[in-house]
Amino acid sequence: MNVNYRPITEDEFSNWRIAVRRGFNEQVHPDDITRLRNDRIEIDRLFGAFADGNNLVGTGGTDSYQLTVPGGAQIPAAGIAYIGTAATHLRRGILTGMMRTLLDQAIERKEPVATLWASQSGIYSRFGFGQATVAEGWSIKTANATFAHAPKVPGKTRFVSHDDALEIMPRVWETLRKNRTGFLDRSPSRWRYFFFDEERLRGGRSGMFHVVYEDNGIPEGYAAYRMKRLREEEFEVEMKVVEAVTSTPESHAAIWHFLLNVDLVQSVSAGNRPSSDALWWMLADPRQLKRTPSDGLWARVLDVETALAARTYESDGHITFEVIDNVVPAAAGIFRLTVSGGKATCERTSAQPEVTLGASELGSVYLGGTRLSHLARAGRAEEHVPGAIARFDWLFSTAIPPWCPHEF
Ligand SMILES: CC(C)(COP(=O)(O)OP(=O)(O)OC[C@H]1O[C@@H](n2cnc3c(N)ncnc32)[C@H](O)[C@@H]1OP(=O)(O)O)[C@@H](O)C(=O)NCCC(=O)NCCS
Repeated sequence: MNVNYRPITEDEFSNWRIAVRRGFNEQVHPDDITRLRNDRIEIDRLFGAFADGNNLVGTGGTDSYQLTVPGGAQIPAAGIAYIGTAATHLRRGILTGMMRTLLDQAIERKEPVATLWASQSGIYSRFGFGQATVAEGWSIKTANATFAHAPKVPGKTRFVSHDDALEIMPRVWETLRKNRTGFLDRSPSRWRYFFFDEERLRGGRSGMFHVVYEDNGIPEGYAAYRMKRLREEEFEVEMKVVEAVTSTPESHAAIWHFLLNVDLVQSVSAGNRPSSDALWWMLADPRQLKRTPSDGLWARVLDVETALAARTYESDGHITFEVIDNVVPAAAGIFRLTVSGGKATCERTSAQPEVTLGASELGSVYLGGTRLSHLARAGRAEEHVPGAIARFDWLFSTAIPPWCPHEF
């Protein structure tokens, strides 16, 4: 089978989108094709795998993002998405060829890191991606959700319209994005795209409700949520939090107190919560909060020197490490990271490595949320000098684990 990987044309976009959603066993509404074209995608970053001429058998594409790394720098990050292989052509290397194409474009565009959200967690390590953030699924029965502790809340929570929310939410997001590792930027059109609220996309739930928390008129937190009736003829509902983002402990306490105390709500669920969230520590009976950790954002370092020099580290120090990378050989080699006066440099070296790790493991530790020592205990890193992995941990780990609330 002869497969050609190439950018799609404007004329091919509709069929390409239909093929992407067919990969997820979904039919796509024509309006959503237009919406995606207008509000989200960059046409020159979308690719098709064409077999035997013009038969579209694979899809892939990239959204351009800015990723906040430890210390607050925002670096270009390829956001790989839209991946699918036609069910008629599975397991013949089409994803492998597509990934090669997408990574090549990211390297050409000098994006030091590629990122993605995985539909299945077993697929992407082989391409050098590592789990970089944790996304916790939460559920709690409101009857068991009393607070025992909370900071004093000086501000106020109020409902806002969908249109007002689209103006207020980005202000909170931008405050947080400056220093919260793992955040991605959202353009106004992407805000529109991800908060689109048409009935056919609600999965049987209500339209979105929006609340914001403000102190002295400054928005510090928000939540968007939907409701679902438990039984047709009764008022009891369950709440599904679409997104809750808060920039201060006070706004966090206010927003979660609100969400857990709406009348007639039996239970609240939320996806992609940060593992360091304070709610657990605020509840009178924390065990009632059911937490299910899962992989969040996956990261893949494409330019080791640039990516590692862009972030800060917990202390001054140095480490010499070898990266094994069979997918992007230009990102393989031995590197020396030196942190001095809080400033990092990362250079190739001919010195002996103190530690060896793979590209996927480097992706996992890059944002500071995974310890190399944990990976080493899983047989995923090797120490050549006693104490080197502890030093690596000490340098790379961050006090607050990264969190990426933007799923794409
Ligand atoms: C996941 C998917 C894209 C794989 O496409 P594919 O063209 O069959 O993949 P390839 O033939 O290139 O396989 C590459 C490797 O990944 C492995 N692999 C593929 N799908 C996998 C899966 N779901 N879980 C674990 N491994 C997988 C293959 O076994 C192969 O391994 P090998 O290199 O050791 O032989 C395809 O199954 C699909 O479209 N799934 C539905 C949509 C989807 O989940 N997309 C991903 C969105 S994040």
